[in-house]
Amino acid sequence: MDQRILRYERLADELAGMIAGRILRPGDRLPSVRRLAHEKRLSISTVVQALRQLEERGQVEARPQSGFFVCLPAPERSPQLEPQTRRRLARPVAVDISSRLMGVHACIARPGMVPFGTAMPAAELLPIASLQRLYGLVGRRSGALLDRNSHTDLNHPDLVRQFVRHSLAWGQPLAADEIVVTNSCTEALSLCLRAVTRPGDTVAVESPSYYLMLQLLEQMGLKALEIPTHHRLGLSVDALEIASRERRIAACLLVSNFSNPLGSLVPDHEKKRLAELMAERRIPVIEDDIFGGLHFGPDRPWPVKSFDTAGNVMLCSSLSKTLSPSLRLGYVAAGRFHAEVLMQKTLTSGATNPVTQAVAARHLESTAHDRHLRGLRRACERQVMQMSEAILRYFPAGTRLSQPQGGFVLWVELPAGSDSAVLFEHAVREGIAFVPGDLFSASGRYRNCLRLNCGNPWSPRLEEAVKRLGALAGEASVLP
Ligand SMILES: Cc1ncc(COP(=O)(O)O)c(C=O)c1O
Repeated sequence: MDQRILRYERLADELAGMIAGRILRPGDRLPSVRRLAHEKRLSISTVVQALRQLEERGQVEARPQSGFFVCLPAPERSPQLEPQTRRRLARPVAVDISSRLMGVHACIARPGMVPFGTAMPAAELLPIASLQRLYGLVGRRSGALLDRNSHTDLNHPDLVRQFVRHSLAWGQPLAADEIVVTNSCTEALSLCLRAVTRPGDTVAVESPSYYLMLQLLEQMGLKALEIPTHHRLGLSVDALEIASRERRIAACLLVSNFSNPLGSLVPDHEKKRLAELMAERRIPVIEDDIFGGLHFGPDRPWPVKSFDTAGNVMLCSSLSKTLSPSLRLGYVAAGRFHAEVLMQKTLTSGATNPVTQAVAARHLESTAHDRHLRGLRRACERQVMQMSEAILRYFPAGTRLSQPQGGFVLWVELPAGSDSAVLFEHAVREGIAFVPGDLFSASGRYRNCLRLNCGNPWSPRLEEAVKRLGALAGEASVLP
């Protein structure tokens, strides 16, 4: 018996050594059980036991009718804190989150709720007064703006110039003639998806991914393929590589700079790899860079777009997180898909409000804008820190949380088996908003997780709310 135990352990260690030495790489199929048994002169049951042990260690996974495959490497752990996002490849699934999301939205938007729900900076952090002044100025001086053709004059040239100017430091700046100004980032994402997909297609997304992106897929009859995403390093390019080898992917939709909800940041060398891989496989990339300007580090990270030499990346963004969500002003720089995106924009909504475009252009060109962004970045970093500390103080033992490097959302993972949907019901009754984790997955994952908005200056009221939320998270009905 001891002999047998030793034999399967020895085989498990041998295979683990090949995985560690990258002789067997993530996504590789292991030799079949029969072949291993034959070659190693072991019984079938000893081989199966060895493979089961590797499976338990998270190093291989069994896929029905296909055999055993090497999993993605475990991320380095920082003690207790690191959320355990998905490491295994999934299958494409239809999305069905909209009706539940609308219910959640209705609750978190009630007046007087503690604002941990919608990812929005507090109004006091935004330059509302100066936007008001600019509306007056532009209204008085630029009456002709109200006389433009709503289906041909889509872009205000001053605003396009500002978007290009703000990209000049990137490896590859945006080109004015690839830009379409949109009503928000959501519209930009929607136009891109319409331009390159058909109902029934599969779109690769981060796991967890921003629920509004999933909702767009749902609305267009697209399937979501959830790609493992590291809480600090973002979408796994290794996993995307494997997935795109295994099946047809119509587009890859991601937030490479400070994802929502993880706050992850894809390193430059991986962005470059992603841009090259997707161009080589002719898979259009739809990149959402809405949080890119809200970096905590000294430098603004470049988007994947700036590593793309094939015009294959459509970069979407908006002023919703940095100027005001009420402006409903964004853009897409669509590369080789520009003509298709332009047509979709004309069909969907025609031109974006020209007065608002002129107001935003004036703000973006001012030195006051740079000052405002510096202050906003500092506030976001401080608020994320304050919220993180409060969670560590008040939430049940075993809670993990993300360590965003920009933006203003936090991803909290309660002890395995906890139910954030139950927590949500309790919290809403007590006037505290947040977004339950399962809304960030097309396949109902992350039920023990929640996303918290840190867009508001810290206050005793917010601290009290985190304390209460932590106590509720520790109650028997929420815990496993
Ligand atoms: C990643 C991401 N993209 C897009 C949006 C929506 O932006 P907009 O208001 O410009 O549509 C949000 C808002 O939370 C977001 O987090």
